Order: sequence, then structure tokens, then C-alpha cells
Amino acid sequence: MRTYLVTGGAGFIGSNYIHYMLKTYGENIKVINVDKLTYAGNLENLSEVENLPNYQFVRADICDRDSIEKIFAENEIDRVVHFAAESHVDRSIKEPEVFIKTNVLGTLVLLNAAKKAWEIDDGVYKEDKKFLHVSTDEVYGSLENSDEYFYETTPYDPHSPYSASKASSDFLVKAYMDTYRFPANITNCSNNYGPYQFPEKLIPLVINNALKGEKLPVYGDGKNVRDWLFVEDHVRGIDAVQEKGRLYETYNIGGHNEKQNIEIIHIILDTLLELLPENDERRKNISESLITYVTDRKGHDRRYAIAPDKIEKEVGWTPETKFEVGIKKTIQWYLEHEDWMKNVTSGSYQQYYKEMYGNQ
Ligand SMILES: NC(=O)c1ccc[n+]([C@@H]2O[C@H](COP(=O)([O-])OP(=O)(O)OC[C@H]3O[C@@H](n4cnc5c(N)ncnc54)[C@H](O)[C@@H]3O)[C@@H](O)[C@H]2O)c1
Repeated sequence: MRTYLVTGGAGFIGSNYIHYMLKTYGENIKVINVDKLTYAGNLENLSEVENLPNYQFVRADICDRDSIEKIFAENEIDRVVHFAAESHVDRSIKEPEVFIKTNVLGTLVLLNAAKKAWEIDDGVYKEDKKFLHVSTDEVYGSLENSDEYFYETTPYDPHSPYSASKASSDFLVKAYMDTYRFPANITNCSNNYGPYQFPEKLIPLVINNALKGEKLPVYGDGKNVRDWLFVEDHVRGIDAVQEKGRLYETYNIGGHNEKQNIEIIHIILDTLLELLPENDERRKNISESLITYVTDRKGHDRRYAIAPDKIEKEVGWTPETKFEVGIKKTIQWYLEHEDWMKNVTSGSYQQYYKEMYGNQ
């Protein structure tokens, strides 16, 4: 039985990945989820699998070397899939330090622990051990022209403390591959959306606020473009890269779903009205008049867009879910999981929201 160490598995993409893997491979794999449970980590995301004998949760900080080494000492880990990170650009602008700690130092701790457990001789590793570092397309910076795309060869040009911390962690993984022949891959993915996403991010924030009749804050002119990927496509891509990709390679994941932020908001409002039953009280809250333009995010990148040619050609992965389909599934999920939304938006989220958008 192959054992996966998944970091940040209680977060948005990590929990979707764990669900996907346990559904796909069943009892042929064991998953150990290591998560510190920051504001973004939520074990409720994994309630369906928490009692499975081949799933285990360990609460630990990836920066804590002793805890991480202990996991490697007590388990024969075959795969590391590293999601754990501070992931929100706005928070990184306010408080960069924790991004450097978790995203850079935490990645270093993991690399060292895996190397120590897996290396049998200088640059020679136990068979079939693999580390996958999950990263973002934001490391490539901003695209100005509509015919430009991010390729794996695009030079790094991060602008926010978040993307700078992810770029640093990518370089560390590259350095371990080059210096120690450490068996790893890096994936750089575009913006994800889907179930279990914390409502500080655009899509769940708009769904949540619109249902309550609260303002929908839009940065700048609302015309910043992101390349949206349904989270189930992303986690399928991660698994495909780890199983079919060439070791030591970077793969971009995403593509063909570019939308302006303001377009996304209009689509969400229309889809909510389409999905909510005629007699649902919340229908009266949903209105375009909720859209409120706010001062642009500092250093806001204009456009991100992935060219997925390499992953399509080498791994056979393509983004399957059209935005129109994925957004319906996503909104339907949030409508059916009102309690989840209530739980994650209580307490400290309220305080954070006031600080970010309080005056708007
Ligand atoms: N969300 C996106 O659109 C997107 C796109 C591309 C890449 N990524 C990358 O994917 C990964 C996952 O993103 P996400 O959106 O699921 O993030 P998230 O914020 O929803 O989840 C992050 C998880 O990491 C955990 N965590 C944070 N610090 C930790 C620490 N020090 N030790 C252990 N656990 C810790 C949190 O508790 C949480 O469960 C990140 O590395 C992110 O950079 C995200």
C-alpha cells in the first residue's frame, strides 16, 4: 500500500485532493494529512473520510522539524504532496512574515525531512519516492497583452509577498532537484474554484455576500483577468503529474478559462437566480446594485493565463470542466452547505473582513 503525506489537507485544494485520491484509489493508498489548522484549515472539509482506516490526521506545523521528522520516522512515506501554505494575497500584503515562515521555511523543513528519510547514498534515493510541490502561476507575474501566456519557461517575476514566497519555495525545490537529485516535481496552477474554498477568495465571497444582500467589493475597475480552473481538474492534474510526468520537471496546470473579475460576479448573480427556487427568501437580496468598486489592491497583477501545452502533451491532462458547468456545481454546493459557510465565517473571519473592507 502506497502512503501519501499530504500537507495542508484541511484547506481548500488539499481537502479536494484527499477526497479525490481516496475515491480513486480506495484502500490501495493511505493518506496522512498534516495540517496546522490555521484560519484556512477546516477539518469539517474531511468529515466524510475521517473514520476511514486508511486516513490519518496529524495536527502539526510544517515548520516544526521534530514533528515532521517524526512522521517520516513512523511511516514509510512514498509520496509527499505539499499544499500547506499561507495562500491569500491580501493577507500577505498586510502581514508578509508568516508567508515567508510557512511557505519558504516550511517547504525547506519538508524537503530536508523527505531527503533524510529517502536518500540511501549521495544523490541516490529509495525507489519510487516522489515529492510534489504545489505552486501558483502568480510566480510568473502579470501579462499585459491578450495573446501572451505563461509557459514553464516564462521567467519568474513575482509582485506580491505571497507570490514572492511561493517563488522562493519553488526555487528551493529546484535547488534540491539540481543539487541533490532530489526526486520532485513542481506544478504551477491558475486560480482554483469549487467546494470548500474559504470565503475570503472572490467566488465564495461573492456567493456568500450576495445571498445575504451584502456589498460585493470589486478591486479597481474589475477588469483584472484570471484563468479559472475547477478544483477537481486541478487535483486530477496533480495526481497525473506525479504518476505520468517526468521527474524533475515543472508543469503548468490550467488554461482556456479566462474571465474578468467583474464578469465572474455577473455570472454568479445570474446563476444564483437560476438555481434558487422561486419561493426562496434570499432571491430578493440578489442584485447588481450590491457591486461596489473599492480601491485597487496594491501591486494588483492585471492578467494571468496558462498555456497548458506541456501537461497536455506529456501527461495527457486537459482542463475538462467548462467554467459555466463548474460554477453551477460550485454554487449548488454552497447552497447545500449553508452550515459550512456559517461555521467558517463566524468569529475571527468577521474581524478580518472588517479590517479589509470595513470602510467600504
Ligand atoms: N487557491 C488557488 O487558487 C491556488 C492556485 C494555485 C496554487 N495554489 C497553491 O495551492 C496550495 C493550497 O492552496 P489552498 O487555496 O488550498 O490554500 P488554503 O489557504 O485553503 O489552505 C492552506 C492549508 O494549509 C494549512 N497550513 C497553513 N500554514 C501551515 C503550516 N505552517 N503548517 C501546516 N499547515 C499549514 C492551513 O491550515 C490550510 O489547511 C497552496 O500552496 C497555494 O499556494 C492555490
